[in-house]
Amino acid sequence: MSEFEKITATEEFDILMMRYDSAIREVRTKLEILNNELSLTSVESPISSIESRRKKDRSIYEKLKRQGNEISLESIEENLNDVAGVRVICSFVDDIYNVARMLVRQDDVTLIQVKDYIKNPKANGYRSYHMIVEIPVFFSNEKKPMRVEVQIRTVAMNFWASLEHQMKYKHDVEKAEQIMKELKACADTIADTDMRMLKIRESISAK
Ligand code: GTP
Ligand code: MG
Repeated sequence: MSEFEKITATEEFDILMMRYDSAIREVRTKLEILNNELSLTSVESPISSIESRRKKDRSIYEKLKRQGNEISLESIEENLNDVAGVRVICSFVDDIYNVARMLVRQDDVTLIQVKDYIKNPKANGYRSYHMIVEIPVFFSNEKKPMRVEVQIRTVAMNFWASLEHQMKYKHDVEKAEQIMKELKACADTIADTDMRMLKIRESISAK
């Protein structure tokens, strides 16, 4: 990893990471503003919480290697869309689509990619709405377009994904197979419950 250690020791690397941190804050602020505004006109806020993280140096290195990409600062910006990550947790499925739509229609937000794992769940049962967006961040001498991965999911989907994530560290294969089956069943139950909760909310709010 020594070639990468040389890169992380440079000032340019610190600057790039500072830019990603700034991009995270920009996206968080946009989401908080939307949530505050929408809270005024509805009983419940559409967003229940927001989490964010910047990818660790080591994971940046490992992902570049895994993808067979060059190890350089330019390569990080060009090939990694998830150095900056924001996760939005909503109570209801329709809030996910509302929040996504309202974020993307802002004129300084460019939508780069969408993966709708709610309409098209992964084979393991994973559900979540993923977007890669690009936003300009203003610094002393320049404006830099920065990419941010935004994952939007319900509280229940998030609960599931946290537990499923731990499967990565499970090495007992026989048990793992049983657990995966069980997790898939839970994911389907959760999806069904999310839909039923949405219908209940609709019938409560219909006059
Ligand atoms: P990564 O290389 O893992 O970033 O995947 P990708 O570039 O193909 O993008 P994708 O949109 O499929 O996944 C991005 C992120 O979503 C992952 O880094 C995880 O945080 C989350 N994710 C995707 N699939 C799963 C899954 O099956 N289980 C869980 N727990 N999280 C997932
Ligand atoms: Mg990732």
